[in-house]
Parts: sequence; structure tokens; C-alpha cells
Amino acid sequence: MIIEHKQNLSFDELDELVRPAPEVVEFEEVAHKMVSRRGFLSGGAAVGASAFVMGSTTLAAGKAFAAADSAESRLAFSMVKANTLDTITVPEGYKWEVVASWGDPLFSNAPAFDPTTGGTGASQELAFGDHNDGMAFFSKDGKQILAINNEYTNEKTLHANRTDGMPINADDVRKNKAAHGVSIIEVDQRGGKWGIVQDSPYNRRITADTEMDITGPARGHKWMQTSADPKGVVAKGTWNNCGNGQTPWGTYLTCEENFNGYFTASKDFKMPDDYKRYGVSTEGRYNWALSDDRFNLDKEPNEPNRFGYIVEIDPLDPTSRPKKRTALGRFKHENAELTIAANGHVVVYLGDDERGEFLYRFVSKHKYLAGGNNRDLLEEGTLYVAKFHDNNRGEWLALTPKTTGMTDAEIAIHTRMAASKVGATTMDRPEWVAAHPHKAEVYCSLTNNSNRGVKPNAGGDETPATGPNPRVKNNFGQIVRWMPMNEDHTSAEFKWDLFVLAGNPAVYSDANAGSKNINQDNMFNSPDGLKFDSKGLLWIQTDGNYSNEKGFQGQGNNQMLVGDPETGEIRRFLVGPKECEITGIAWNANKTAMFISVQHPGEDGNSHWPNGGQSVPRSSVVAISREDGAVIG
Ligand code: FEO
Ligand code: CA
Ligand code: CA
Repeated sequence: MIIEHKQNLSFDELDELVRPAPEVVEFEEVAHKMVSRRGFLSGGAAVGASAFVMGSTTLAAGKAFAAADSAESRLAFSMVKANTLDTITVPEGYKWEVVASWGDPLFSNAPAFDPTTGGTGASQELAFGDHNDGMAFFSKDGKQILAINNEYTNEKTLHANRTDGMPINADDVRKNKAAHGVSIIEVDQRGGKWGIVQDSPYNRRITADTEMDITGPARGHKWMQTSADPKGVVAKGTWNNCGNGQTPWGTYLTCEENFNGYFTASKDFKMPDDYKRYGVSTEGRYNWALSDDRFNLDKEPNEPNRFGYIVEIDPLDPTSRPKKRTALGRFKHENAELTIAANGHVVVYLGDDERGEFLYRFVSKHKYLAGGNNRDLLEEGTLYVAKFHDNNRGEWLALTPKTTGMTDAEIAIHTRMAASKVGATTMDRPEWVAAHPHKAEVYCSLTNNSNRGVKPNAGGDETPATGPNPRVKNNFGQIVRWMPMNEDHTSAEFKWDLFVLAGNPAVYSDANAGSKNINQDNMFNSPDGLKFDSKGLLWIQTDGNYSNEKGFQGQGNNQMLVGDPETGEIRRFLVGPKECEITGIAWNANKTAMFISVQHPGEDGNSHWPNGGQSVPRSSVVAISREDGAVIG
């Protein structure tokens, strides 16, 4: 079954294909609904029909954002200018190097990377996966280990020897599945250069074919049962692993995001409503059903229910089985930001990256005990979903059998429907969540939302331009932050405000110019990756429009910036190569190296990064350090 290839579609475009907008609403027609830029920034009254209360944008900080060039800045580097170069640009005094690229062998018995074919199924199973994304750093007995997500694939380079990059046989499918998942690699510096330690006992590939245990409320439920797993307790594989999390008990959390796009079916297949809510369609884009019936809905109608979860992996035990933690819900998981509340419960903040979907919080049933047995704290707990009120207050609504009329298993599998039932706030695509390391304050990137104010989400929930999602057809995105009441991450209530509204003040003078801490020097669009460093500075990574045209002119390639939560100041630290996104962030133990992912350079065929010349572009992990060897973050 060869399907029309859809590799050039973004996940939003695929969703649009499955669920088209009822009508086109021009920006100009709805612009009057927006507050004026002045209204945003000065604490003045909201303008227009929206109930948006921007007067309290800076409520929590209790002070205006400082000017970008404050002499007291904690951002001790010179801002990098936006550019469209096919390289990485960092500030003076910093340097970068590639640590690992797609196709690099993890073992000495694997063949070298072959750029003309992209390798074989067997070689890819022994090599670093494609499209690296979220990651975390671990150390044991002096060894340095990175666990890194391989989200999806660039078929045109992965299958460079196939027309349109489509898998055409079983080995192509095997290769494609093996390019997905998670790569665990030991790294070190030899001759001053970072690289993979080949044959390390920690090196491991987890792919779309790796067996893992299903734990939590969904384990064994009839919707989880398939012909290969009639008990519904063992899933095969993980894919579309986007952001990540890390636990204080030494495990890695990988987050299954656009899991839906891998299934296909005949035109006769009657798509259930719950599959429509999750964007499962008859036209997945990877052609895995060519040689694996799990991806043919006509044959295995329950397989999609086994994906869309958080998976917990012990990277320090290469023989361990990953565990799908269904208590943390099923949706298009971005990352999993874990913090320990003052009362000892584990709290995990979770975004569902889809236009008009929700923001979640998991609170563990049992408490974390330092040095205790914490291994299964993510197995049991309560899931909550956020409701934001326009008065800068919000609440966490529990998803329980009592509040939803659903069983615990149904809540775990049909989490979006449970959240709709309690009236959660539809969001502008919640991407990464980051918790401040020194106080109870949490940030989330709302990357953009072309459907805001245009059409409801797939469950029929309205998307008014209010609260933390104030702009109709939001092209630029924003970062919302919330402060749990009584500094208690398990509290039912919180206060919120917006840390930044991204925009382009060179082009717009209305709300699309962005908030006061955005200017023509530091502007960007589509915040995505977020992570705090040990000093409490917020690193912001972008995955947005890099056309450098029209509303995006002057914004250059995707980039990484640093924000100071205390002053609102934001400076651009790094610009990536052409057609990439910058994502994922981790530091080594002494914080002299920061690792980031450069994902999908040249996704439209216009990059030769990192190898230059006429080489194929390769997603890669990059280490950034200071030339003087001092701490970075
Ligand atoms: Fe994989 Fe929402 O980014
Ligand atoms: Ca992302
Ligand atoms: Ca994104």
C-alpha cells in the first residue's frame, strides 16, 4: 500500500488536511478584536471586543519589564544578530562543535554513515537516530551519558536512494522505524573534542520496535488489546519522541507527540470519533503499514491507543525495559517538566501540542523520599487540566471518574475528551514547560495557533482570543507563566501572566508587534524549547517561520535566546543553520558544556549543515562552551 507522500506537510498541515478550516478569516478582518500594542504594554485598559486584561500582564513581577540594555543585566554576552547563514552563530567568547549526527555509528561493528543511501535497516539500528530533539544528561562512575530523543525523519535524506524519499520495501521501513525513538550514548572529550564513545555498554537504541511495559490505569484495558498483545500490557516501540523530562531518581522521560501520523487504512475504515479527536487518519505519512500490520487500522484498529504517552527509561541500565506511564495521560505530549512539591508529591507539568488543546498537571499519589524507592511514583496519581480566567487567576481541574463520568482507564486513554468535559482552557499549542529552580513559578511556550479565534478544536471546544491566548490567528506565540498559590505546586489555584508576546515591531504596530520586552534586535517567533539554567535564567528555543519575509522579515533562522524572569529582558544567544529548529537542552555535570539539538537543517533542501560542500544535511547534537572554559548556565 503506497500512499501519496506527505513528507512536506507539517503536522499542522496534516491536521488541516484531515480537518479543514470551515472558512478563511483574513487577518485584517479580525484585527479589530485585538488589543492595541499600547494597550498591551503600558498596563492600560484592554481595547476591542476581547475580554483580555492586559493591564496585569506584569502582575506577578509587580514591576515593568526593564529596558534591554540595563547596566544590571544578568545576560552577560553580546546579543547575536538575526541571520540566515547556513551555520551556527554564537556570541563572541563562545564556541560550538558537533557531538553526534544522524547516522553516526554507536558501535564499531556498524558501517560508517553512507550519505548516498542513508544506510540500511541494520546500520540504522546501530547508529544515532534522525531528528534529535529533547535530551538529558546523566553520569555514573565518571561516565557521561546523554539520552536523546529522535523525533521523526527527513525522508529525502534518510531514503536518498528512493523517489520522494518514500520507503518502498521492508528494509526501508525497518530503517525508518530505527531512525525514530531514543538514542542513549556515552560521550566524552578526546583531544578536546566531544564525541560518541563507541561500544560503551551504555550505548543503546530504543526504536519503534522496542518492547516496553504498559503501566498505570490503561494497562490491560480492552482498548489496549491487539492481536500481538491480547492482554494489552506490552507495547512495541515509541515514536515521535519530542521533548523530554528527567527524574531525581535517575530516569529519563521521553514524550510521544504526533503519534497519530503513522497509521493508514482503507477508505472503508470507519474512523471512530476518538481517533478523529487525536488526528488519526487513513493517510499517515510514513508508509510503515507496507511491512507491519500494526500500522494498518483495518487489521489492528486498537494500535493507536497504545501511543501518545510518557515513557520512562533507565538510561543507566541498558537491559531495563522502558515503561509507558499511562497515568500521565494520552495526548500529543511535548515535554514532561517534573518538580517535587514542598509536601513531597511529584508534580509533572505536561503540554498537549495541538491547536486548541490543553495544559496538564500530574500529581503523584505517593511522595518522593530522597534515597528511597521512588521507581514507580509515576504509576499512580491524579491528572489535572488548566483553566485560565481572565482576571489572571487560574485553577487546576481534576480529571477523575467523579468529574468526568469516565473510568480511570478511559481518562488515561481519552484524556482530551476528559479535559473537554470539565471545561479546560483551549491553548495556543502548549510546547515545553519549564519550572523555575529557585521558586514556585512555571513557564510554558504557547508556540502559535493559526486557528485561534477561527475555529474550535477537534472536540468542538471554542477558541476565543482571551486570557493567555489573546491574539486571533496567533502567528508569533507567547510564553505564559503561573505562580501556584502558597508556592505549592499541588495547590488547586494559581496566578498567571505573560512573560512575553513574541512579535515583529519592525512590521507591525498592533498586537503583532509583541510585548514591551520585544524589540527589533531581539525579536523572534514561535517559542518552543524552554529550560531554566542553575542561575534561574530561561533559555528559549524557536521552531518557527524562518522565511525572513513579510511578517517574519528580520527574524532570520530559528534561534535560541535567554530571558531573565526578574526583569523580562531577552537576548538572542544563538542562530541555527538554514531550515532547522533549535530544540532540546542539557548541561554536563560541571556546566562547562551545554548540549542542544539542531533538528531538520535543510528540511526543504536548502542546507548542507554540518558537513558543508554539497553534503546531505544531518540533524545533530551540538555542544556549546565558553572559550575560557568557564561555566555556561
Ligand atoms: Fe515536537 Fe511540539 O514539537
Ligand atoms: Ca517542540
Ligand atoms: Ca514546535
